[in-house]
Amino acid sequence: PKKKKKTVRVYMDGCFDLMHYGHANALRQARALGDELVVGVVSDEEIIANKGPPVMSMDERMVMVSSVKWVDKVIADAPYAITEEFMNKLFTEYNIDYIIHGDDPCILPDGSDAYAHAKKAGRYKQIKRTEGVSSTDIVGRMLLCVRDRQILETPNHASLQRQFSHGSTPGQDNGNASGTRISHFLPTSRRIVQFSNGKGPRPDARIVYMDGAFDLFHAGHVEILKCARDYGDFLLVGIHTDQTVSAHRGPHHPIMSLHERSLSVLACRYVDEVIIGAPSEVTKDMIKTFNISLVLHGTVQESEGVRNKRNEKKAESEKKYYATKQFVTGD
Ligand code: CTP
Repeated sequence: PKKKKKTVRVYMDGCFDLMHYGHANALRQARALGDELVVGVVSDEEIIANKGPPVMSMDERMVMVSSVKWVDKVIADAPYAITEEFMNKLFTEYNIDYIIHGDDPCILPDGSDAYAHAKKAGRYKQIKRTEGVSSTDIVGRMLLCVRDRQILETPNHASLQRQFSHGSTPGQDNGNASGTRISHFLPTSRRIVQFSNGKGPRPDARIVYMDGAFDLFHAGHVEILKCARDYGDFLLVGIHTDQTVSAHRGPHHPIMSLHERSLSVLACRYVDEVIIGAPSEVTKDMIKTFNISLVLHGTVQESEGVRNKRNEKKAESEKKYYATKQFVTGD
């Protein structure tokens, strides 16, 4: 009889702060190096000690990593560096074969390599870091957008509006003269294929549709999508164009471009397919073309009261995200 092949388990760790499609792409590549992917999410304390305070809490970072479709298991409060002790724990307790990290140097405050032990043990593998995106870059885009809002209060509104709504002028790149929001991301068809499930709905599937901007994809979005997926067998998500988002939220939005937003949504395990550039109104034509049975609307209900720094945590926990039925077709 044929000997059963051993399951290869790989481990990737990280902060996964302000989770973006670069992180998702790292997890995708790590998963491809084995059969099962275990992810260690670095604790708040360890991030503070090694990089400075994270933007997102441990809980939020856990939700984001767990939502990625290539992740099989998540470990909370992982250490920043792979110590010999922790590495042995990975081998014995979690049956890990390889420890994976992006090809960027990961240097500890004392100048040593965070993966030195794994490398020495011959249990280290590397994946290619995704160009054009990082948490720092996203924070930068958000800060520039605050500055831009002030500039936009000056009279020459129309020309600025044109300048800040990226992607709307053909033949121009996503940046502008003042250097605002330059996305270096070049979407290729191959990347979209890598992120796709590659499967359409079964003929008898109940197809649920939800659309939105999904800018700066966060734990609330994940919750809404999970809820939406439970209404049917196939969740189709419409991602609004940059122009639609700008028209609704102002010229400094979205922070992430259409293709960046599409990849983040595609990486989510509750999503079956996305429409890259959906109209803001669901048309009869779309319902027919995609055989949609139910259109859902995501709602964010925020608690009343002033959100000052002190009650911010409380307000966050009272924030409810849910999907409500907008309309049902056919049945
Ligand atoms: N990663 C990647 N491509 C990026 C960003 C991160 O492949 N654009 C990988 C890292 O190499 C690492 C994993 O994602 O293996 C988790 O990264 P993380 O610890 O969150 O930190 P950073 O590398 O600092 O990511 P960022 O700069 O975006 O915070």
